[in-house]
Amino acid sequence: MTVIPTAAAPVAPPAPAPAPTHPAYLWRNGELVPWADANVHASTLGWSTMAAVFEGIKAYVNPQTGAQWGWQFAEHFARFAQSMRLQRMRPEFSPAELADASVALLRANGHVGDTYVRPLAWLSDVSWFTDGLDSRTSIVIVTEPFRSHLQTGRTWSTCVSSWIRVGDNQLSPRVKCISNYQNSRLALIEAKKNGFDQPILLNLAGKVTEGPASCLFMVRDGVFVTPSLTSGVLESITRTALIRLAREELGMQVQEREIDRTELYVADEMFFCGTGAELMPIGSIDHFQVGSGGVGPLTTRLERVFHDVVRGINPGYGHWRRRVDHA
Ligand SMILES: Cc1ncc(COP(=O)(O)O)c(C=O)c1O
Repeated sequence: MTVIPTAAAPVAPPAPAPAPTHPAYLWRNGELVPWADANVHASTLGWSTMAAVFEGIKAYVNPQTGAQWGWQFAEHFARFAQSMRLQRMRPEFSPAELADASVALLRANGHVGDTYVRPLAWLSDVSWFTDGLDSRTSIVIVTEPFRSHLQTGRTWSTCVSSWIRVGDNQLSPRVKCISNYQNSRLALIEAKKNGFDQPILLNLAGKVTEGPASCLFMVRDGVFVTPSLTSGVLESITRTALIRLAREELGMQVQEREIDRTELYVADEMFFCGTGAELMPIGSIDHFQVGSGGVGPLTTRLERVFHDVVRGINPGYGHWRRRVDHA
């Protein structure tokens, strides 16, 4: 059969893709480098990043004063150094120098709003599989604006993953290594394909660990409970801060211990925490509603405290904040 072409209805041209935006500079091995000049050769892609370690760090703005506060820079760069040590890297910069570099970069890029700071260390002389022991450790830091979801009332639906969290004798979750995130990625893909927002991974012993990029808290009988640091979790900086804030600001008990899967199904409240997740309430787990399905009352209180401390609205905990002076 011959198909006679008919006059095509006018089709609106596709909307142009938004112009890519990027900051003016990134920091690389001691220098502020214009974004467009920060290239590496294509032949080094691949194996050189197998051992790469990174951090996710935030700077928050106080809406009342406009002041920008780097949040726990010292703690993040200490963990970055620990990750590099565990990868047997040889960084040329101390945690204090990297914190200073982050402040310089925030200023140079004129990021006056809420901003992510992302350091990455990798073995820059490696182009095939090797131990990399002789390689230089290169470090870059990039910055990027972000929108906080603290106090938006949003909740996530979750499931227990069929993927097991990597263990300390495999790819230790204590190391914030890019390669570990293949485990996180597989769990996240499975969760999303099954209609959930996020997975929660168990360890080989069947105990609860964490989400793909965040730690986990539950509330049972008025007590905050979070998996111990030897359950197979990243030594989360937000987790440590929240434990302290829950105890000191809310006068609550906090337990760090093993958690059984079925405890999640009977928890009164639950939330993820982390630099990216901030404090993300969980509305359901494996189709069990958590509490009312919304943000629980103790979660609401802790989220408020955290929000006020990171933004410097609560002037306490000043050692966790570093002023970024844009003047
Ligand atoms: C696997 C994993 N667990 C926990 C966290 C939370 O860590 P932090 O609070 O230090 O950001 C992250 C954050 O990126 C993560 O990737």
